Amino acid sequence: MTEAVAFPQDRACPYHPPTGYEPLREQRPLSRVTLYDGRSAWVVTGHAVARQLLTDQRLSTDFTHEAFPFPSQRFATVRQRRKPALLGYDDPEHNVQRRMLIPSFSLKRTVDLRPRIQQTVDELLDAMVEQGPPAELVSAFALPVPSIVICELLGVPYADHDFFEAQSRRILRGPTGEDADDARRQLEGYLGDLVDRKRDKPGTGVLDDLVAQQLAQGHLDRDGLVQLATVLLVAGHETTANMISLGTFTLLRHPERLAELKADPSLMPAAVEELLRFLSIADGMLRLATDDIEIAGVTIRANEGVVFSTSVINRDTAAYAEPDTLDWHRPARHHVAFGFGIHQCLGQNLARAEMEIALRTLFGRLPGLRLAVPAEEIPFKPGDTIQGMLELPVTW
Ligand code: HEM
Repeated sequence: MTEAVAFPQDRACPYHPPTGYEPLREQRPLSRVTLYDGRSAWVVTGHAVARQLLTDQRLSTDFTHEAFPFPSQRFATVRQRRKPALLGYDDPEHNVQRRMLIPSFSLKRTVDLRPRIQQTVDELLDAMVEQGPPAELVSAFALPVPSIVICELLGVPYADHDFFEAQSRRILRGPTGEDADDARRQLEGYLGDLVDRKRDKPGTGVLDDLVAQQLAQGHLDRDGLVQLATVLLVAGHETTANMISLGTFTLLRHPERLAELKADPSLMPAAVEELLRFLSIADGMLRLATDDIEIAGVTIRANEGVVFSTSVINRDTAAYAEPDTLDWHRPARHHVAFGFGIHQCLGQNLARAEMEIALRTLFGRLPGLRLAVPAEEIPFKPGDTIQGMLELPVTW
């Protein structure tokens, strides 16, 4: 067993796991990696073991613990000073927070949102077509779709999107830990003011419901509400934007798969599931062992870090035949692209609906869509953040 593999690493191709993770595939289901600060941690790479460990209560997400494994200095600075709502809490506290939000993110609520998502997608494409070709798809489409939708759902004014998108970018990939932490504080200040305004003048969003049902009843204080709002706003737009941009890029690089989808758009829900598996954009879930855990022939000791390489797990040959191939006809739904266990993505129904409507409508409306520059020239995100395209120049 080698300790030399560094985690995380940048991808060489935006839709494949980093080539430097090859040894991890061979060492499945569990091996060791070295983190950015030289400490070592366990890395989970096997699908069955991942699902077992992600439901094990002896793995904690308490980011403030000194032994917690981080992917970068920036991430450590932000998370240690202030752990995020939901994701940074173990049960029972986590469960109290999560239960307040479950009705707002239910499948039914998402189904009700679909016409509005469709309208948003149509309007953005109208504007893009009017001004192009060419277009930069991230700023014209992939980012505004989830950003507008999460604003409406939460009750955040979309007019402020330049501000909160910029702070989210700095939190997720600012130049330094200090910069990321400053962005986090600014976003909390903004959302605190918004919560105060909603107390005086209630609206109809999820944040308004939380003010009326949780804050006013004393189940949640102002700071707790601001923390929830911050997580929902950041997670609600950055992640799905990356799936839409990287999903589009990946489809354009797989013309036969794209042709199959164009010929039969009813394949789209299955395609979204397969793209989630194949792209694994949240490529590194983080945990800390609070007790010794015996698993797969090894012992994870208390206070050892455990990281989950989603991209390697989702390409485990024991779970998927020919995992490096895109295939709309495989059952892909048991992937861990949304995590698993108590922290499994709260927004997954919403994200699925957004991706499905965005990709179907984009390729339905612009069947000749193609990259405007050679694929190799298009920049994508580094390995220590959510994976996706920084820009996507397209034409049609
Ligand atoms: C395709 C887009 C998305 C992907 C790939 C994604 C991925 C994930 C993953 C992997 C986790 C689990 C992290 C862990 O266990 O360490 C997670 C949790 C979470 N996601 Fe998403 N997500 C997406 C979209 C969204 C959206 C649209 C929202 C809307 C609010 C959202 C809100 C959350 C929240 C609140 C959590 C924490 C849940 C908890 O701790 O109970 N996500 N997401």
